Amino acid sequence: KPIYVLSGPNLNLLGVREPEIYGKQTLDDVRAACEARAAALGRTLVFRQSNHEGELIDWVQEAREAASALVINPAGYGHTSVALLDALKMLAIPIVECHLSNPAAREEFRRHTYVSLAATGLVSGFGARSYELAVEAAAGLTA
Ligand code: DQA
Repeated sequence: KPIYVLSGPNLNLLGVREPEIYGKQTLDDVRAACEARAAALGRTLVFRQSNHEGELIDWVQEAREAASALVINPAGYGHTSVALLDALKMLAIPIVECHLSNPAAREEFRRHTYVSLAATGLVSGFGARSYELAVEAAAGLTA
């Protein structure tokens, strides 16, 4: 089964959005890097982004049956969404939380993420490389 890689709101603007924090690579660049890493590990990906909380929740629910592992950058919803946490709690597969920046080193309100309560582990602070490392971690946790 594929590894699901889900990205939350405003990450469609990666490369343009606060590049001093999030880097100059676009989400398409991140996707290409993740797909290359997954292929090298003999794995496939489902790579999606949404600005909509409910759509992300639908995909998390879909992942219950369809995915071997989930990588999720919840973006702002990580700090706010109990509903996303509740959906993640329904997964029996490994969950790797992923952030480009290191939210713990930023504003106080970024220090807490609901997603961490359901995550197996967390990769943050390495820019676009965080995603590749998260895919590698997810692959290492599953067949
Ligand atoms: C982010 C960090 C979040 O605090 C922020 O709301 C984002 C992006 C990151 O990848 O560093 O949208 O998840």
